[in-house]
Amino acid sequence: MVMPSVTSLSLLLFSAFTLTETEQFHYKYVTCGSTLKLLNPYHKVRLHSHDIKYGSGSGQQSVTAVESSDDHNSYWQIRPKPGTSCFRGVPVKCDQTIQLMHVATRRNLHGHHFRSPLSNNLEVSAFGEDGVGDAGDDWTVICKTGNWSREERIRLKNVVTGSYLHVNGDVYGRPIQGQREVSAHDHPNEKNYWQAGEE
Ligand SMILES: *[C@@H]1O[C@H](CO)[C@@H](O)[C@H](O)[C@H]1NC(C)=O
Repeated sequence: MVMPSVTSLSLLLFSAFTLTETEQFHYKYVTCGSTLKLLNPYHKVRLHSHDIKYGSGSGQQSVTAVESSDDHNSYWQIRPKPGTSCFRGVPVKCDQTIQLMHVATRRNLHGHHFRSPLSNNLEVSAFGEDGVGDAGDDWTVICKTGNWSREERIRLKNVVTGSYLHVNGDVYGRPIQGQREVSAHDHPNEKNYWQAGEE
C-alpha cells in the first residue's frame, strides 16, 4: 500500500473541512430530509424513542428524553407533511408544518388527547408504520428568524392538539429508569424549547 505524503494528506483534510458557502448555509439551517437530534436545553436531554410501549394511555410506542448524547435511538428525520412539498436540502421555514420520523423504528412523533403517564399533560407517542401515520404526526415549527436555524431554540406545536412538545422533568422508573417523560403542554414556556443538534 502506498502511504500518502504528509502534504497530500493535509490537502485532503483541508478540503474535507472547508465548507463552501452553500454548505455553510445549509448547515446553519435544519433542512428537509435531514436527520438530527433534538436537545431540550432546559433539562439537557435529547428526544428519544425505542420499541417499548406505554403501559397506560394509548399503549403506543413510548417517546422519552435521555441525557446520553450518544444513542442511536435519538435520531429523527425531518419529513414533509403528506400532501405538502419539503424538498431535500431546503431549509425548513418558521411556521412550516412537518413530520419527525424516529429513524430506528420508522414511526412518527405523534400527539393526541391521551393523558401522559407522569405529568398528566398530553401523551406523545411514536405512531404509524414505515413513516406513514395520521394528522397527529403533524407539527408546526415555531421560530422567529425565517428559517429553522441550528443556533436558535424553537418549539414544536402539534397540529391536532395545539400543544407544545415538552419535558416536564418527571423521571421514569424501570424498565427505562432515568429517562424523562416527554409530553405536550398547552402553554409555551422554558421547558418546551428544543434545539437541533448533531446530524
Ligand atoms: C431561508 O432559506 C431560503 C432558501 O430556502 C433563502 O432563500 C432565504 O434567504 C432564507 N432566509 C433567511 C432569513 O435566511
